[in-house]
Amino acid sequence: MRSIDDLDVSGQRVLVRADLNVPMSAGEISDDGRIRASVPTLTALADRGARVVVMAHLGRPKGKIVPELSLAPVATRLSELLQRPVEFSPALTGPDVQAAVSALDDGGILLLENVRFDPRETSKDREQRQRLAADLASLADAYVSDGFGVVHREQASVTDVAQLLPNAAGRLVESESRVFNRLISDPDRPYAVVLGGAKVSDKLGVIGNLLSRVDRILVGGGMCFTFLAAAGHPVGDSLLEADQVETVRQVLADAADRGVEVVLPVDIVVAREFSPDAEKATVAADAIEAGWMGMDIGPRTIELFAEKLADARTVVWNGPMGVFEMPAFAAGTQAIAEALADTSSFTVIGGGDSAAAIRAFGIADDRYSHVSTGGGASLEFLEGKQLPGLAVLEDR
Ligand code: 3PG
Repeated sequence: MRSIDDLDVSGQRVLVRADLNVPMSAGEISDDGRIRASVPTLTALADRGARVVVMAHLGRPKGKIVPELSLAPVATRLSELLQRPVEFSPALTGPDVQAAVSALDDGGILLLENVRFDPRETSKDREQRQRLAADLASLADAYVSDGFGVVHREQASVTDVAQLLPNAAGRLVESESRVFNRLISDPDRPYAVVLGGAKVSDKLGVIGNLLSRVDRILVGGGMCFTFLAAAGHPVGDSLLEADQVETVRQVLADAADRGVEVVLPVDIVVAREFSPDAEKATVAADAIEAGWMGMDIGPRTIELFAEKLADARTVVWNGPMGVFEMPAFAAGTQAIAEALADTSSFTVIGGGDSAAAIRAFGIADDRYSHVSTGGGASLEFLEGKQLPGLAVLEDR
């Protein structure tokens, strides 16, 4: 892939696909990590005199205008972080947006409204997508792919428009791709992966691909109960994907054949109900009784996991260890976040909930080797899939 340094951007209109899909609560941005991550590319382009037109999405409006999913508040935050003005265009296509782009000076930045308000963006019909892509391409002289979090999507602003203009990868897509390529091709060993989060079914693809690459897999979070069930233990009222138990049993057998150590919790913090102040207890992981549900890994598991991570030279972490949004059940996730922040190994935090967790605990991103902005994209990368938004980028 080419870099933005290979593009002659001075005085040129450059269309940038960013991933500014940030969590919002009551109209406020609750974690601006992805907006921050877009700053290096936008600054570099504007400093070199490009007229920058930014496209992004917020949520899944399904082709309709949903006022709560407007990118207007994101434009304000982006402008603060860039420390320069960011114009906002409520229109995505048509004469108003053409006029707004024409009014840009060299170094000016314009953010377009949520690209998913147009049904053609996510259409399964390639021709529909290509029509939107042609409209968007008419706004610019070059295209920069910088939304790592969307490179696994075949969407007009990601794949179709990239094929209509000279293109390059932005700084974020370059650095994320470098890190994930290293993880799947050339990791320092021992290589450990910590997996959590609610659903084991979301992670089976990753586990399947990583079994041939990693030395150790540590399993916590909601998904560990399906592992515990597969190992023959009762899980009470914990989250369980009963239809995956057999598959997980197979995963455990494959791991054993390959000499990959799968580390399961040895104790669990359980609660009577899914609520922040529910009655709670810590029990052995093979003795969760009916009427109790697992909410976090327990203190002995925290110690065990810390031991298993101590000598690892590469660690990837994807998915919280418990219901970290509730302080009573945040200890496991916080302990893993702190253990990884304190090591000198190559540590990669998968996007989504794990990245949100470290920020919620107030741990700075630079305590880790890399904090990804990609949720689904980073998982699909680790699954070994070809990502369409990267495949369309030109070779040097
Ligand atoms: C994400 O949040 O992972 C990216 O912004 C992609 O969003 P999507 O899953 O709605 O395509």
